[in-house]
Amino acid sequence: MLLLLLLTNAFVLLPWAGAGRIIGGRKVKAHSRPYMAFLEIQGDPKNYSCGGFLIRPDAVLSAAHCVDIKGIENVTVILGAHNRKSREQSQQKIRVRQWVIHPQYCPDDFKNDIVLLKLKKNAVINKNVKLISIAKKNERVGEGAKCNVPGWGRTSLKSLVSDVLMEVDLEVQNEKRCQFSGDYERQSMICVGDKYSEKAAYEGDSGGPLVCNKKAHGIFSHMYDDSLFPEVFTRISHFEPWIRKQLKKFSLNIIPCFPFSD
Ligand SMILES: *[C@@H]1O[C@H](CO)[C@@H](O)[C@H](O)[C@H]1NC(C)=O
Repeated sequence: MLLLLLLTNAFVLLPWAGAGRIIGGRKVKAHSRPYMAFLEIQGDPKNYSCGGFLIRPDAVLSAAHCVDIKGIENVTVILGAHNRKSREQSQQKIRVRQWVIHPQYCPDDFKNDIVLLKLKKNAVINKNVKLISIAKKNERVGEGAKCNVPGWGRTSLKSLVSDVLMEVDLEVQNEKRCQFSGDYERQSMICVGDKYSEKAAYEGDSGGPLVCNKKAHGIFSHMYDDSLFPEVFTRISHFEPWIRKQLKKFSLNIIPCFPFSD
C-alpha cells in the first residue's frame, strides 16, 4: 500500500512512473472551500504536508498516517489559504496543541486511519474560514455518489505539490472494486475513484475530505501500490460517534499528553 502524505522537498521519482498522475483536477475558485486546512508537519529529520478540514473552530480532522511518524516536533494548520505559499490576508496559521489518533489505527493496513487535531486557539470563522459538516452515523454514502476531493497535493508525477488549492471529482465505487484487497473493510472505508485512472487524489492530498453533497464523508487514506484506481477513504459515518466523543473531551479540556493516542 502507498503512503500518501507528502515528504516535502522530496524529488524522488515514484516506482509507478507512467501511471502516477493526477489528471482531471482543476483549480478551485479562491476560498470556495473554506473548511480546507493545510497541515505543515514539522519533524526531525523530515517535514511532511497533508490536508485536513475544519469541523469545529478548535478541531481539524485528518488522516492518522499524517501524524503517526517518529520525530514529529510540531504540526501547524493553515486555514483560509488559496495559494498556501503567498502571504494571503485571509490565512490563519494556528499551531496544533494535541492530537488524538484512533486507538485502533493500524499503520500496516491503514484501518481506522483518522486523527482529530486540537488547535491551540479557535479559528476565527469568517467568509474565508468555515466549518464543514460531517456525515452522521446513519449517513452511509453509496455507490455512484458524485463527490470531490480538494487538496494541495502533487498534480503530476513531475511536479511538486500545488501552491494553489486544486480539486478533483471522484465517484464512490462498488465495494467489490476494493475487496480484492483483503485489507479493505466495508464498514470503515469507502472505495472511490475514476475507473479510467484519469482523475485521482495523490501524494500530499492525504487527510483531505471526500465531499459529497456538501458534507465530509471520507478522509483520503491510501491507494494500492501501482494503481490510481481504486482509492480508499476512511468512512466518516462509521467514526462519527468516536469523533463526537473526542470533541466533547476537547470541550472539557480532557486532552492527552503529546503525542498520545486515545
Ligand atoms: C522543516 O520546516 C522547518 C520550519 O519551516 C524548517 O526550519 C526546517 O529547516 C525544515 N526541515 C527540513 C528538513 O526541510
